[in-house]
Amino acid sequence: MDTPRPTERRSDLTVDLVVVANRLPIRRVQPEEDGPHEWIVSPGGLVSAMAPVLADRNRFAWVGWPGDADGPTEPFTHDGMRLIPVSLSAEEYECHYEGMSNGTLWPLYHDKIEPAEFHRHWYDGYRRVNRRFADLVAETAAENATVWVHDYQLQLVPGYLRAQRPDLTIGFFLHIPFPPSELFRQIPWRNELTTGLLGADLVGFQTPEGASNFARLAESLDLATIDGETLNRNGRTIHVRSFPIGIDVDRYSTGADRPEITERAAAVRERLGNPKAVLLGVDRLDYTKGIDVRLRAFKELLAEEKFLPGEVILIQVAEPSRDNVDAYVALKERVQGLVGEINGDFARVGVPPVHYIHQSRDFDELMSLYRSADVMMVTPFRDGMNLVAKEYVATRHDDTGVLVLSEFAGAAHELDGALIVNPYDIDGVKAALVRAVQMTDEEARPRMAAMREKVERNHASRWAESFLSDLRDIGGQSPVGPRKRSATV
Ligand code: G6P
Repeated sequence: MDTPRPTERRSDLTVDLVVVANRLPIRRVQPEEDGPHEWIVSPGGLVSAMAPVLADRNRFAWVGWPGDADGPTEPFTHDGMRLIPVSLSAEEYECHYEGMSNGTLWPLYHDKIEPAEFHRHWYDGYRRVNRRFADLVAETAAENATVWVHDYQLQLVPGYLRAQRPDLTIGFFLHIPFPPSELFRQIPWRNELTTGLLGADLVGFQTPEGASNFARLAESLDLATIDGETLNRNGRTIHVRSFPIGIDVDRYSTGADRPEITERAAAVRERLGNPKAVLLGVDRLDYTKGIDVRLRAFKELLAEEKFLPGEVILIQVAEPSRDNVDAYVALKERVQGLVGEINGDFARVGVPPVHYIHQSRDFDELMSLYRSADVMMVTPFRDGMNLVAKEYVATRHDDTGVLVLSEFAGAAHELDGALIVNPYDIDGVKAALVRAVQMTDEEARPRMAAMREKVERNHASRWAESFLSDLRDIGGQSPVGPRKRSATV
C-alpha cells in the first residue's frame, strides 16, 4: 500500500464529526413540471438517524458522491449541514462503483450468489476513489475529530485516514454482510482491504457473525491478533462489535397512520378486486433479494390451485438499481420472464395475478402498499439487515399482517414473530406463503405486536447514538492523551 504523507492540519477547522458514505444524502427533485431541478436532502435513511446526535450542525460535515454527473462539485451547506461532494470521472464510476464495489465486493459478500469478478483496473479505481474520500476528510476534520465511515465502497478509507491523521477517532460500519474468511480470502487484495478496515478504532457489523468473521479473517491473515472482543495490531486496539441497524420508526409509523393513507390502501385493494389476500414484495431489483424465489413459489401455488387467481394477488415493487452491471441486466430479464409466464398462464381479463412495478415509488404510495398488504415477503438469499421488513412492521398499527422472512436476512435475528424461511427451499417458502395467507388475526396479532415492539425499541437514532457513543468512549480511552497518536495502519 502506498503510504501517504501526514496532512498538514489547519487550525481553523471546526468540524468535529464527519460522516463519510459513498452517497451524499441528497437527491434531485423537480418540484414543478417543466420547472428547474433542485437538490434536497433525502428524507429518512442515515441522515435522519444522525439527526439526534447532531447537537451542533455547524460542527458536522458529510463527505460523499452526489450520485449524478450533474451534481454539485463544490462544498455547500444545506439545512445547516456541510455537504462535501466527491466527484467521480466516468472511468472511476465504472471501476470503483460498478466494478470493484458492485461487481466484486457486493456478490462476494453476499455468498457469491452471482460470481465475483476480480479485475486489477477496477481495484486501481477503487483505491483512487478511496484515497480521494480520505483526502477530503483529512482536509475537513478538526483536530481530534470523530469520523464515521460507511460501507463496502470505502473500506480503504480508515487506513488511509489513520496514516494521514492519527489524531482522529475513526469508526467504520458495514451495512452489508461480512463473509466467512474462506470467501474473503479469494480477493487478490485481501490484505490491503483488511488493513484498510483495521485503520479504524471501531469496526461495526450488522450481526455478531459479521463481527466474528472479520476478527477471524484478520487473525488468519496475520494482520492482527484476537484479544477477547477486540483485535490487537501493532499495539493498537481495534474494537469489533455488532450494531444491528434500525429504521426511523416515527417516519413510517406516523407516515402510515394518516387518513389519506388508509383511504389509499383501501383503494389499492378495491382496484385489485378486493382479493382474499394481497402479498407484497418491495426491493431494489437485486439478485440478493430472492424476488425470483417468491415468484416461482407463487407460480407453483397457482398451478397446484392452492392459491386461486383473483383470490390471492402478488404485488412486486422492484426499484431499478445498478442497471449497467451484467448480473442486474440478467436478473431483470429473469424476473420479467417469470412475471410474464405467471400472468400468461393464470390471468383472467382485468385480473392479472402479479402486479409488477419496475419503478421507485414515492413514500405515500409505499405506505399505502404496506397498509394494503396482508403478507409481506422478504426472501433474500443474503442481506445485511433488510429494512423493508422493519418498515412493514412499523406501519402495522392494528398488528395485523404476516411477515415471511428469510433466515439469511440480518433482520431475522430480531424479528422472530415472522414466518422464517430458507429461500433456497422452494417447498418451505410455498408452505410459509400458504400458512401466512391462512393465518388468523388471533395468531398474527401477538406476533406482529412483539415485532413492532422490537422495531420501535431499536430505532435508527438509537443505533447511531450507540455506535457514536462507543466510538467516542474508545477515542477518549487512549493511554497517550485524549486520542491515540499512532499513525500505524
Ligand atoms: C445497500 C448498500 C448501500 C447502497 C444501497 C443502494 O443498501 O449497503 O451502501 O447505497 O444498497 O445501492 P446503490 O448502489 O444505489 O448506492
